Amino acid sequence: MKVTVVGAGNVGATCADVIAQKELVNDLVLLDIKENYAEGKALDIWQTAPVRMSDTRITGSTNDYSKTANSDVVVITSGLPRKPGMSRDDLISTNAGIVKAVTENILQYSPNAIFIIVSNPLDVMTYCAYLTAKIDAKKVFGMAGVLDTARYRAFLAEELNCSPKDIQAVLMGGHGDTMVPLPRYTTVAGIPVTELISKEKLDAIIDRTKKGGGEIVNLLGTSAWYAPGAAAAQMVEAIVRDQKRIFPVCAWLQGEYGLKNIYLGVPVKLGKKGIEQIIELKLNDEEKKLLNDSAKSVKEVMAVLDAMNSSVAK
Ligand code: NAI
Ligand code: 2OP
Repeated sequence: MKVTVVGAGNVGATCADVIAQKELVNDLVLLDIKENYAEGKALDIWQTAPVRMSDTRITGSTNDYSKTANSDVVVITSGLPRKPGMSRDDLISTNAGIVKAVTENILQYSPNAIFIIVSNPLDVMTYCAYLTAKIDAKKVFGMAGVLDTARYRAFLAEELNCSPKDIQAVLMGGHGDTMVPLPRYTTVAGIPVTELISKEKLDAIIDRTKKGGGEIVNLLGTSAWYAPGAAAAQMVEAIVRDQKRIFPVCAWLQGEYGLKNIYLGVPVKLGKKGIEQIIELKLNDEEKKLLNDSAKSVKEVMAVLDAMNSSVAK
């Protein structure tokens, strides 16, 4: 199996590092547009191999897509974070240009690849890759829910003073303030979380989860990378090891949850074919309303991309 990570910045390099450390594949490529950047990061990661006892061979590349040929899975992390003075539409336009070009270049050498998109704004960049790739949507999806759920689970473990390993949770919707954590589907070693924590504390944790990305930006002045990189690598693992794991993933909906033609976070089964099943939970009225509100806000951002694409086409 071969994996390519595009973007050797904070998230991409961390993702590659986790893939190498866990020896998920033998052949790993890290690619960036910045001269020698991916080569340098790849060399550094390779030099951890004797210490960490890993056999994963990692190659760095400055925009040479021939090195990515025959990749089974591609993680796209290339793109700018939002900068002061930059509007949301500017960010969409810049990152969509990057995601589109990267997707085209990858497909030229790896027509059967499965794509995991990480670049922001996540839901719409995943849509952009799908529109560009014109392949089965089961092979084009985005990483956000694994990260957002990890944040939620970490906060719960802290509050309950228990192991994060015992917390199971699912979270749906777009990657942003409208995401929908589902306390009814959150358990601690099988015990409903609602039996272990007060409503006030749970509400505060849900609120912190929704703002989890911003909390790190406020602390660091840039967005997070350890948890995002590890989350993307966990999705790679589910695919290359055909684990059939169930994760919240930004997936193309065609009627599931009553929603159509939208990329949105929902629980899916991930295996070697990509998304092997979209799982439809029975939501109550309140949860349905939250999901529909989230879908509405994601659709608004998707419409910005559609408008940009149609003005280019004219
Ligand atoms: P970064 O700035 O550290 O790295 C981005 C890299 O992309 C840079 O090295 C840059 O040279 C490269 N790049 C730019 N254009 C390229 C192109 N055309 N081809 C190849 N490489 C190119 O940024 P960071 O922190 O790694 O974040 C990357 C993206 O991931 C951002 O859009 C960020 O908002 C997003 N993100 C998404 C998360 C999620 O949950 N989905 C979580 C964290 C970050
Ligand atoms: C995060 O959630 C900013 O999407 C990025 O950390």
